[in-house]
Amino acid sequence: MQDIDENPKTALITGASAGIGQAFAREFAEQGFDVVLVARREEKLNEIAAEIKAQYGAMAYVIAANLADPKSPQMIFDNLASKGINIDALVNNAGYAIEGGFIDSDWQEHLDFIQVLNTSLAHLCHLFATPMKKRQYGRIINIASVAAFSPQLSGNLYGAAKSFVLDFTQAIDLELKPHNVFCTALCPGFTYTEFHDTMGVREAVSRLPKFLWMDSQTVAKEGYNAVMEGKPVYINGLVNQGVSQVLAALPLRVKQFLAEKQSIFEN
Ligand SMILES: NC(=O)c1ccc[n+]([C@@H]2O[C@H](COP(=O)([O-])OP(=O)(O)OC[C@H]3O[C@@H](n4cnc5c(N)ncnc54)[C@H](OP(=O)(O)O)[C@@H]3O)[C@@H](O)[C@H]2O)c1
Repeated sequence: MQDIDENPKTALITGASAGIGQAFAREFAEQGFDVVLVARREEKLNEIAAEIKAQYGAMAYVIAANLADPKSPQMIFDNLASKGINIDALVNNAGYAIEGGFIDSDWQEHLDFIQVLNTSLAHLCHLFATPMKKRQYGRIINIASVAAFSPQLSGNLYGAAKSFVLDFTQAIDLELKPHNVFCTALCPGFTYTEFHDTMGVREAVSRLPKFLWMDSQTVAKEGYNAVMEGKPVYINGLVNQGVSQVLAALPLRVKQFLAEKQSIFEN
């Protein structure tokens, strides 16, 4: 918990209407933060905000926003500035994956995907890290994935998008850490959420062994601890840590060979 004589700090979590984002909202509230919940499904966010207020006594604000809209990050920033709410912790969690190859999907679908997973994420970091640096306090968690270490899937942009998050987060952590603004790229593996339903692959992944899976509460708790400890990268769970480290150490040619051979999509 935070010191009781400190003013409550505020955490903004994107993708807070489900899965890992909802778990992060509860984790930050449990740790004494007020929370700002962002996603498209406003009704779901309102329900979660009411539960958080009742359970933890935290303030919970809701901002409905589609992060595929390039104007959303500035709208979110301006909305909070107009209410005089400072953001001390930012969790860029909103995300999804598109099933299928590159040319199978319309360009607009890829554009939206890159906007949500990369451009809005970087824009929100830019907007909120500036006042964090000025106040000499900030915590930023960007959700990458074990997929950032994995061989690529044929024509799928998910691995590339998550590699950007992994590298980008380490770069800004180097710049901001001297100002007490810590940034962590959090890399979950298979986690029980709505992610695989949205992607339309629930049946295929349900055949994967149980030891590969984690729950979203554990992922969020580990992520919270990692950023507070100033870890630039944290891979969730021992299995994912082992797999990612082996994959990261593979020679490029072996990785390319595996990419050609693999039949199961990565997460
Ligand atoms: N689950 C896994 O196995 C796994 C593994 C590694 C990494 N991850 C990453 O973890 C993060 C969270 O995913 P999850 O597993 O918790 O999935 P989830 O249960 O499907 O939740 C995704 C969240 O993102 C929000 N979102 C999606 N598109 C959005 C948009 N255009 N604008 C605003 N919000 C949007 C959704 O809210 P609305 O629909 O209400 O907008 C929802 O709250 C993602 O970045 C994902 O890539 C997941």
